[in-house]
Amino acid sequence: MRKGPNALLSRRNFLIHTAFCAAAPFLPTSAFGQAAYPARPIPKTGERLPVVGLGSTKAVSQLAERGTAGFKLLLRTLLDGGGTVVDTWSRNAALDRLTGEALQAEGMVKDLFLATKVDAVGAKAGRAMLDRTRRLFGKTSDLIQVISLRDLETQWPILKEWQTAGKARYIGATVSSDYDHEAMMHFMRGERPDFIQVNYSVVETQAESGVLPLAADLGIAVLVNRPFMNGSYFSRVRGVSLPEWAVKFDCRSWAQFSLKYILANPAVTCVLTETTQPKHLLENLGTAHGRFPDAETRRRMREVIEFI
Ligand SMILES: NC(=O)c1ccc[n+]([C@@H]2O[C@H](COP(=O)([O-])OP(=O)(O)OC[C@H]3O[C@@H](n4cnc5c(N)ncnc54)[C@H](OP(=O)(O)O)[C@@H]3O)[C@@H](O)[C@H]2O)c1
Repeated sequence: MRKGPNALLSRRNFLIHTAFCAAAPFLPTSAFGQAAYPARPIPKTGERLPVVGLGSTKAVSQLAERGTAGFKLLLRTLLDGGGTVVDTWSRNAALDRLTGEALQAEGMVKDLFLATKVDAVGAKAGRAMLDRTRRLFGKTSDLIQVISLRDLETQWPILKEWQTAGKARYIGATVSSDYDHEAMMHFMRGERPDFIQVNYSVVETQAESGVLPLAADLGIAVLVNRPFMNGSYFSRVRGVSLPEWAVKFDCRSWAQFSLKYILANPAVTCVLTETTQPKHLLENLGTAHGRFPDAETRRRMREVIEFI
């Protein structure tokens, strides 16, 4: 028998409820109250962004093989859990159509803060990618970033042009390797972008002595990538007990250990966590509630990780 929309809706609610139950041990009691989800201001405008977002690379890479249901559920979970920020980018027309279908399901895209990227070399290819993103994702991007500073000399002037034309609310650039931090800081000083994106975690701490203080000085919003080093962090801590003192800053898992460390830095606007699992997303979103480690505790956290 064909399922009606109500049956699909209740299945979706059932899946989100199941994910919420699975994530419940990782959520402090304050997460169950009515308080607004923790958010931080974008320095340029004061607009507030929820502090945990979704990196979509893994979920999008599964779309062709598995269909859009899983990604739609993740986006619904993000919104229901208090988040709005989703980071994605255009790959090819076929995949972009599926991404756009998921983003636009139930009108979700209008409630999302859509961060996209240009990943092209040459003006023609860059403009074509931006046009395709705008056409297929169903919304003017809230933020467009030059990915990994690639072809910056060509793509950055195009992003400035797009912003002036009202086709991007904010613009910026990304890096995801310590090696690129010097080049990023040179770009930040010269161009004062609205946003930057940088790798930062309890393992990869280099940004806290360079990119992050500079962003705070210049009033640039910061998205963080690689909070779990694309998953290798979990291999490193597997089988190791979480320190007992982690409860003092409301940390209940190794995932939250890295996220609490990242969010304790006031220069960070939002951390992107990539996942395909709603229960992981809720656990990550839950990190924003409760207390954060102070400077001495963060030193101990780095020490713990160094010795694992
Ligand atoms: N140059 C660039 O612009 C650039 C480069 C890298 C990344 N990024 C952005 O940053 C985002 C995230 O960074 P990343 O790729 O480095 O990924 P990441 O967030 O560091 O790690 C993702 C991995 O962690 C696992 N995971 C997530 N939450 C978990 C939890 N609570 N418990 C256990 N496992 C968990 C995921 O597996 P499950 O699916 O099983 O949860 C996945 O394998 C990307 O999606 C992208 O948006 C940008």
